[in-house]
Amino acid sequence: MKAITYTKYGSPDVLQLKEVAKPTPKDNELLIRIEATTVTAVDSIFRQGSSLSGRFFTGLARPKRPVLGSTLAGEVEAVGKDVTLFKEGDQVFGATADFGAHAEYICLPEDGALALKPASISYEEAVATNGILTALPFLRDTGQIQSGQKILINGASGSVGSYAVQLAKQMGAEVTGVCSTEKMEFVKSLGADKVIDYKKEDFTDSGETYDIIFDAAGKSSYGHSKHALKENGVYLSTVLSAGIVLDVLRTSLMGSKKAKIAFTGLRPASEKAKDLRFLIELMEAGQLKSLIDRSYPLAQTAEAHRYVDTGRKKGSIVITVA
Ligand SMILES: NC(=O)c1ccc[n+]([C@@H]2O[C@H](COP(=O)([O-])OP(=O)(O)OC[C@H]3O[C@@H](n4cnc5c(N)ncnc54)[C@H](OP(=O)(O)O)[C@@H]3O)[C@@H](O)[C@H]2O)c1
Repeated sequence: MKAITYTKYGSPDVLQLKEVAKPTPKDNELLIRIEATTVTAVDSIFRQGSSLSGRFFTGLARPKRPVLGSTLAGEVEAVGKDVTLFKEGDQVFGATADFGAHAEYICLPEDGALALKPASISYEEAVATNGILTALPFLRDTGQIQSGQKILINGASGSVGSYAVQLAKQMGAEVTGVCSTEKMEFVKSLGADKVIDYKKEDFTDSGETYDIIFDAAGKSSYGHSKHALKENGVYLSTVLSAGIVLDVLRTSLMGSKKAKIAFTGLRPASEKAKDLRFLIELMEAGQLKSLIDRSYPLAQTAEAHRYVDTGRKKGSIVITVA
């Protein structure tokens, strides 16, 4: 089968389309023929090897996992003998625990982060919702968002942020999105009550205060944002840094305002699968839009990485595989 592989960290040029062995499902696994996958900010970071903490997972000197890609949608081509939850021909989508989705086939355990994909939603639309698997646990579990609260989402046009805007509105919050001038109309179209252009205004200067500041892009800091938090307000960051670790520790010991970080990719597969089923309900009820910025064929995955590397994508970048 064809797969996009890499054997060293670096620019998108390290990615190569190669012929590799097609996997065989174990007794508890599904063999999935992948129709669509995504290139995310995390794929880009892991390809570059730019994060030291990331390298503990991907390999210190060189990549241990030759194929990136952590989301997929496709059709079950075969099942292991113990599989009961899915059958051949099922259309599924979900997330891998260990990358490997930039390929024509993948084997995943039946109790992995997978859900049936309804026919009304395309493979591309299903896979492009990947930002929800970060946005939802951040808002619901880490931020414990409540109806009627005021939330500011920094990086509201990115993959995580654009789904966070939609989910926060759906949960009854008053939403302010922060993005660049070019993306203001897009963020409004997602339902944001207010939009701040970070190129013209620092959101901490407006005098407004929020119950939650969700820094989906990791471009601000707790120290910079805390005076824009209400008493008992929470600052959430998606991006690991020494600064946020110290802020999480310090605010857990003192003060009413808290800084928090979560690592949503490390959640149990059963929780992710539940969230996938929830997002299908929202999409079928017309309460959530799948957001595709650009699509590329598998052979042009390096081009997709180049675009993701700009840090300016709007929603998700889809790779069509079939
Ligand atoms: N902790 C976790 O569990 C977890 C899980 C998944 C992802 N992440 C991390 O979350 C981050 C965001 O991921 P993503 O997929 O949403 O990335 P993305 O789609 O590449 O989003 C980047 C967004 O950041 C915005 N941005 C750039 N500079 C900005 C600034 N100065 N102020 C405000 N917004 C700015 C851009 O908006 P404009 O184009 O409008 O400038 C763009 O829409 C990544 O660093 C990723 O590694 C963490």
